[in-house]
Amino acid sequence: MDRPRASCQARCIRKQLAGTEILNIRYPVSAKGSSDEWRKDHQMSAATVVPLRAYVATAVTGAIVRARPQLAGADPVVRRSDRADFQSNAALPLAKGIGVAPNRLAAEIIGALTDRGDAVVADVQASGPGFLNITVTGAAIWAQLAARLGDAQLGVGEPAHGQRIVIDYSAPNVAKEMHVGHLRTTIIGDCLARVFGFLGADVVRANHLGDWGTQFGMLIQFIDEHPEKHWHASDVGPESTVSALDGLYKAARARFDADSAFADRARTRVVALQAGDRETVARWGDIVAESEKAFGAIYDRLGVLLTPDDYAGESFYNPMLPAVTTELLDKGVAVHSDGAVVVLSTQVTGPDDSPAMLMVRKGDGGYGYDSTDLATIRYRITALHADRLLYVTDSRQALHFRLIFEAARRVGWLSDAIAVDHVAYGTILGPDGTPFKTRAGGTVRLMDLLDAAVAAARAVVAEKNPELPATELDTIAEQAGIGAVKYADLSTSRVKDYMFDAARMTAFNGNTGVYLQYAHARVCSILRKADEPGAVRIDTTATLEPAERALLFVLDEYAMILADVAETLEPHRLANYLYELARAFTTFYDTCPVLSVVEPVRSNRIAVCQLTVRTLAHGLELLGIAAPARM
Ligand code: ARG
Repeated sequence: MDRPRASCQARCIRKQLAGTEILNIRYPVSAKGSSDEWRKDHQMSAATVVPLRAYVATAVTGAIVRARPQLAGADPVVRRSDRADFQSNAALPLAKGIGVAPNRLAAEIIGALTDRGDAVVADVQASGPGFLNITVTGAAIWAQLAARLGDAQLGVGEPAHGQRIVIDYSAPNVAKEMHVGHLRTTIIGDCLARVFGFLGADVVRANHLGDWGTQFGMLIQFIDEHPEKHWHASDVGPESTVSALDGLYKAARARFDADSAFADRARTRVVALQAGDRETVARWGDIVAESEKAFGAIYDRLGVLLTPDDYAGESFYNPMLPAVTTELLDKGVAVHSDGAVVVLSTQVTGPDDSPAMLMVRKGDGGYGYDSTDLATIRYRITALHADRLLYVTDSRQALHFRLIFEAARRVGWLSDAIAVDHVAYGTILGPDGTPFKTRAGGTVRLMDLLDAAVAAARAVVAEKNPELPATELDTIAEQAGIGAVKYADLSTSRVKDYMFDAARMTAFNGNTGVYLQYAHARVCSILRKADEPGAVRIDTTATLEPAERALLFVLDEYAMILADVAETLEPHRLANYLYELARAFTTFYDTCPVLSVVEPVRSNRIAVCQLTVRTLAHGLELLGIAAPARM
C-alpha cells in the first residue's frame, strides 16, 4: 500500500529554504551497530525535510573541503550549543592532522562558509581554539516548522524504504505462562517494528512461538488421561488457558519422573507426534491454538501489532531441519560427533578451552533449539530475502545467537550485505532487586502485573482529575497503566536491568509515560481553546523567543532521533527525546503565552503547539503508547 507522500507545500518550502544542496543530504549515522559494509550499502537516504543540524553539518563539510580539499570526508562534528544554535568542533583535530594552527583553519572554514551567502546560516563566530559558533536564521527555523506541519510524515520521509527487516520478538512458549521476560521482548520488539515500519521498511514480524518439542508428548498423554481437567478458553477464559496448561504441564512432569509406566506412554506419544499420528497431532494443534488465544488476549491488552499472521513457531521450521543438517554437513561446517551432528565454533571457546558448540542433531536423531534457529536464519535469508535480521531476546542468549550467526556466515547464508543483530535486554527486577518473582517464588503472570499498573494509574489519574466520569476514568486508567509499563521499559537503556515499581512508573512527575501523556493532553487542551483546527499562517519574519527557539530545534531533530533508534536499536533514545520535548514545551509555555498574544505571534505559537502535539502523539505511537486527548 502506498504511504502518504510529502505534500507540495512541504516540498516547495524545502526547495525555497535550501536550494539544491539540501536534497542530497544524508543522515549522519552514528558508528555503533552492525557491520560497516552493510551500512555503506544501506545508508539512510534523504529525509523529506532535512533537520537544520544535518543541513548545517553538510554546509560545514562543504566549507571544510573548499578551504582545504585534502580534508574531504572529514566529520564536521556539529552539535547543538548553549552559545549559539550549533557548534562545530572540527577545526581543532583537523588542523592538528595537517599541521596548521587551529585558529587559522577555523578562519578559513568561516570564510568558505560565509562567502557565498547561505539561506540558513546567519552568522558564524570563532571561539576558543578553533570552535565555530553557528547561528541560523529565524526564517529557516520557522520554515522548518511549516514544512514539518505540512507533511504527513512530519518531514521524516522513508529512509528505510526498500529494506526488508525480519524482527523476531515476543516468542512465548505454548502451554507455559508468559512471564516478565516475555514482556520486554514484546515491548521492545514491537517498538522497533513500529519505528522501522514508519521509516518505510518492509517489516516482517516473526513470533517464534515455542510450539514444538518432546515435552508435548508428555503433556498430550497426561491430558488424554485426565479428561476431567479443564483448560480450554471456553471453560476457563482465554486469560487462564495457559495458566491451566502450565499447571497440567507441571503435573505431567511430576508424573513422568515418578511413574515409569506413564513415562513410557509419554515417550510413545512423542514418537506418535513426530510420526504425524493424526489424533496426536490434532491434540497438539488444539493446545497450540488455545495458547495462541491466550497470547492474543495479552497482545490485545498491550496494544502490540502482533496478530495470528505473525505466528511462525518452532514447528514451522521442523520440516526444514533435515535439509539444514545436510547442508551444514555438506559444506563442512557441521561435523559428526558421538552420533550427534554439531557445529564447533572457530571463534568462541568454552570454560575448558574446547570450542563452543551448537547441537544440530542429537544422538537420538532429535532436534532442539539450536537446530531450529539455524533454520530460522536460513529461511529468513534465503526464502524471505531479508536485508536485516533482528532477534529480540534476553542477554543470556547472547552466546547462542553469536554461534548461530557464526555458523550462518560460515555456511554462506549470511553475507556482509545482510545485517544481523541480537537485540539483547536485561532483567526486570522485583522490589528487592532480584529477578521479579511472586512472593512464593513463582513466575509473575503478565496479566497480574498489568492489573497492578492500571490500578496505580487509576489512583493518580482520579486524584489529578476528580471530575472525570467513571467510564472515561476506566479508559484513561487502562491507557495510562499500560503506557506506564511500556514506557518504564522503553525509557531504560535496553541492556540494563530495571526494577518494576508500579507506583513510580505511574507518577505524574518525572520521566514516566504518564508525564508524557499528560503533557500531550495539556497541549491538546491549549489547542482546543485556540480553536484553530486547520493550518495557520506562519510568519517567517517573526522574532523567536529563546524558549521558542529551543523547542523548535528539539522538534526539528525528530528524524535524526528515529534514524538513531534504527541504527542503534535503542528505543530509549526516542523515549528520552520525547521527555526532552515535553520539558522544552513546558519551558516554552511558561514564558511564551499562546492564546493571549496578538497576530502574527499567536498563529506562529499555535503552529508550535500543533507540531508539538503531533510529534508527541506520533512518538508515543511509535513506542506503542496511547496518547489520550484528556487526562
Ligand atoms: N521461546 C523462547 C523463550 O521463551 C524465545 C525464542 C526467541 N527466538 C528465537 N528465534 N530463538 O525463551
